Amino acid sequence: EKGGFASFMEKEIHDQPDAVGQTLLGRSDTAGNLVLDELRIDESILRSVDKIVVLACGTSAYAGQVAKYAIEHWCRIPTEVELSHEFRYRDPIVNEKTLVVAISQSGETMDTLMAVRYAREQGAKVVAICNTNGSTIPRESDAVLYTHAGPEIAVASTKAFLAQITAAYLLGLYLAQLRGNKYRDEIADVMADLAAIPAKIQTILDNADTIKALGADMANAKSVLFLGRHVGFPVAMEGALKLKELAYIHAEGFAAGELKHGPIALIEQGQPVVVVMPSQSARDSLHAKVVSNVQEIRARGAITIVIAEEGDTSVEAYSEHVFYVPASPTLLAPLLTTVPLQIFALALASAKGYDVDQPRNLAKSVTVE
Ligand code: F6R
Repeated sequence: EKGGFASFMEKEIHDQPDAVGQTLLGRSDTAGNLVLDELRIDESILRSVDKIVVLACGTSAYAGQVAKYAIEHWCRIPTEVELSHEFRYRDPIVNEKTLVVAISQSGETMDTLMAVRYAREQGAKVVAICNTNGSTIPRESDAVLYTHAGPEIAVASTKAFLAQITAAYLLGLYLAQLRGNKYRDEIADVMADLAAIPAKIQTILDNADTIKALGADMANAKSVLFLGRHVGFPVAMEGALKLKELAYIHAEGFAAGELKHGPIALIEQGQPVVVVMPSQSARDSLHAKVVSNVQEIRARGAITIVIAEEGDTSVEAYSEHVFYVPASPTLLAPLLTTVPLQIFALALASAKGYDVDQPRNLAKSVTVE
């Protein structure tokens, strides 16, 4: 049932082209218009939404953080992402004009379920993004957009994450289409770009040997830092979470722009730092800024492992290791740059001899608060 792979996690990483492809399937027409029949919330309500609040925990919350960049860009609706357990205990502002998006792979996470109940009591409409048919969170929500990643068995989430980003993007594009704004014209292009993602993920999987070897080489690292900017920031945090969960070492994701505000003090000789490079087309020369971050940390002795877009040679002079992913528009890059980080964590943990499917102290579904 592991499909010839050594672990469920490895299998599920390889399921990702399908997880994204299946989640896209049947949700647009041939002209690239979104068709989300399952979103059974009155269109007039969706048109009047003035705020989106994404609620989730762990990896699902990082999917929400990625989606915030895209949803705000396409819909021009202010979007907050909050950990479910923080949201519920702080008297948050939610009302009939708030659309809550609850993201949960299992659909059973108690913290997120309680936050959904609370939001509905305040009059908000709730859309669940969920991977488990008929689970509790979708049943208690106003509508559900299922991710079609297939069952995720390994405790550490991989394919569900990419499917969650995909589904949240579909929701964002749908709202943009419904509300009609100047970004409407982008929708068909984005749908075409999304359709190209599964094959690009497959390319990464087919060329993963160098990142696997790097993970194995780092088995003795005491700590690994991850840097990213814009959508690469939540990707960096997700890369760090995978490493904590699987390899039991200290790992932390930072916003690259935050380096000089503190974290750069952590850099010393031999410190491994994984850098998620923005795509070269990124607005406001974000790319150049992260290149200079790589130079800064390298000058202080960091071992830099850079995840960059195919053809981006600007970083080669400054990095010990560069792993290339196929080019994509900035907002879609997380569907690609996450994959080498998953493979890195899997290889590092496997080299240490750990059980990657059942990491210590963790459960697949967290059904207690
Ligand atoms: C990370 C991981 C957890 C879950 C979190 C939310 O690899 O598996 O952080 O993402 O417990 O779970 P769901 O999505 O089921 O609500």
